[in-house]
Amino acid sequence: MSPLDWRAIGLLFLPVPAVLAVLAGTSVLAVGPAVIGAVLASGGIALGVARIRGRIDEAQQIESLNEAELHEEFVRQSRLAESYETILDAVPEPLLVLRRDRRVLHANRAIIDLLGHDPLDADLTAAIRHPEVIAATAAVLTGKAEERTIEFQRGGAIEQSLVARLVALPNGRADGPAAVLVLHDLTLIRKATEMRSDFVANVSHELRTPLTAIVGMIETLRGPAKKDAVARERFLALMEEQGSRMTRLVGDLLSLSQIQANEHARPTDTVRVQDILPTVARMLEPHAEKKKVSFSIEVDSDLPVVLGDADQLQQAFQNLMHNAVKYGRDGSVIRVVGRGEGRDGIAVSVIDQGEGIPEQHLPRLTERFYRVDKARSRALGGTGLGLAIVKHIVTRHQGRLSIESEEGVGSTFTVSLPVKREGGARD
Ligand SMILES: Nc1ncnc2c1ncn2[C@@H]1O[C@H](COP(=O)(O)OP(=O)(O)OP(=O)(O)O)[C@@H](O)[C@H]1O
Ligand SMILES: [Mg+2]
Repeated sequence: MSPLDWRAIGLLFLPVPAVLAVLAGTSVLAVGPAVIGAVLASGGIALGVARIRGRIDEAQQIESLNEAELHEEFVRQSRLAESYETILDAVPEPLLVLRRDRRVLHANRAIIDLLGHDPLDADLTAAIRHPEVIAATAAVLTGKAEERTIEFQRGGAIEQSLVARLVALPNGRADGPAAVLVLHDLTLIRKATEMRSDFVANVSHELRTPLTAIVGMIETLRGPAKKDAVARERFLALMEEQGSRMTRLVGDLLSLSQIQANEHARPTDTVRVQDILPTVARMLEPHAEKKKVSFSIEVDSDLPVVLGDADQLQQAFQNLMHNAVKYGRDGSVIRVVGRGEGRDGIAVSVIDQGEGIPEQHLPRLTERFYRVDKARSRALGGTGLGLAIVKHIVTRHQGRLSIESEEGVGSTFTVSLPVKREGGARD
């Protein structure tokens, strides 16, 4: 692309008066063969020379100009051209500059990353095949429209929602830039909107179930069971259970949103995981006794300290160890193993001997409200938020949660955390 072409594109992207003033002052590039030779010989600005080589015929017609001036102008224009290329590469949106014959004159870095190849000089269809985008491009390239915006889906491993915006460029030359196509990726926005509405639907559903049960029981107590003392006691116990379920749900939702709000603030306490784990085991004793399970805490006494939030880490291990009790086999032993992991980390694994989790569920376990067996989780008083809370706490601690499970054998949930470095905070 010649510097003049770049100038046109530059105007599109940099409508800054100062730039306009500079560009308005430059004339059509005219380069004498001697100058080309000099620049080639000096080996300077290889890119500019390569581009200009194709224009020698045109340049040969203009011989009356001062060679020193031409050289200076050539260098200046070449630098300008390169800076436009750099600017287009710095644009985060995928972008193509098209010729009138629909071939690609420039593809910026973002679109090369998106496509996995550089479509330079190829027809537009090498980059985008969507018929509506092709039709809109034709309209803009033939002058039927100044600009067009098309929303389309792009298949692949993950389907993407994209918007293509086409704008005609003012340029008379047949092989010059005739249009710019910029893509906006709406996939993440669409996904976030979808997740938000799913979340609201889930919360409403989780609250509606206990509320419907409570309202139903109140109606029964006022009607058919009005004088039945035994039924009253039973219903009141059930209502209390449903009420605490809602309280737990609201509590879990609040702590999840607090953790998320603080996710980017690094925790600053010095935490000894070897002190937290026995405390959590003691707190879970009533649940463990009911199922006749016991904890075996196996932690290296010299396990390094971590930089963390003690309350949050306690909550994370409590959720994991409570799950091990709930979903573990009656009468089994739950091992909680803490070890150093390399030089800079520790890993704590909660290992149960439960029925395990089918593999297809593993990637989704940490999603809010995701349960393998909904009815069973609800019957056990679960809200389905426990692992989502663990994941966000671990993320805040710049750690990792990994899950391994074998059906019929058991599950292992491992939290890896970076250790506190000597003399202060982590990087
Ligand atoms: N140790 C485990 N063994 C087998 N399945 C498990 C285990 N831990 C979690 N699960 C499965 O993962 C699901 C999600 O766990 P999570 O802790 O997020 O929710 P929950 O235990 O159902 O409810 P709560 O919010 O009270 O923790 C559970 O419903 C269960 O199906
Ligand atoms: Mg749980």
